[in-house]
Amino acid sequence: MKTPHPKNERTLVMIKPDGIQRTLIGEIISRYERTGLKLVAMKMVAPTPELVEKHYTLDPQWIRIAGEKSIKSALEKGHKPLSEDAVKAGEMVLLSLKKYLTSGPLIAMVWEGSHAVAIVRKIVGSTEPLSSDVGTIRGDYVIDSYQVSNHDGRAIRNLVHASGTVDEAEKEIQHWFSKSEIIEYTHIQGKILYDINMDGDKE
Ligand code: CDP
Ligand code: MG
Repeated sequence: MKTPHPKNERTLVMIKPDGIQRTLIGEIISRYERTGLKLVAMKMVAPTPELVEKHYTLDPQWIRIAGEKSIKSALEKGHKPLSEDAVKAGEMVLLSLKKYLTSGPLIAMVWEGSHAVAIVRKIVGSTEPLSSDVGTIRGDYVIDSYQVSNHDGRAIRNLVHASGTVDEAEKEIQHWFSKSEIIEYTHIQGKILYDINMDGDKE
């Protein structure tokens, strides 16, 4: 059986409530649009805490990994971790995320194209805005850090969610969208991006 073409890779992006309040909807969408990725689904959602919890626990390891990440980062900077126990720390992160993502509407999108997951992650930047690269969404448009969010007992406000792996993306897309909400269509720039010969452009 032929493997699916890499151009059909899809990823989930969400503009979190702070992205909407900071009037960055257009800016964020245009960053992805300019890459050549194709927008195949989009909606505004006011999620319940249950929907948010399910999203983050689609990967049963996520709670522990998120806890480990937060402990490591706190220790590296000489700060007190949320808890010594990774699962407990992860549960605290999840609780604060439920508050954050239910604080207002968010915009969920599906973007499609070659390396969609990696391209989108590259533009999003790393989790903590303070250490996200310049030129990324989290690096350019917000100033939050583990230090400030831990101090105030809340989630890191980093404007966007993006799936971390192809497998995570598939699960997350199914979680937020029904099949009929994802639109199959031809994008005219697909010819320049994917056509093998790139011919037929001359009059
Ligand atoms: O979003 P990303 O994949 O970069 O990070 P994650 O480890 O999957 O965590 C999901 C979200 O939880 C982050 O984007 C932050 O908003 C929040 N988080 C937090 O507030 N504090 C942490 N120590 C870790 C994550
Ligand atoms: Mg993640």
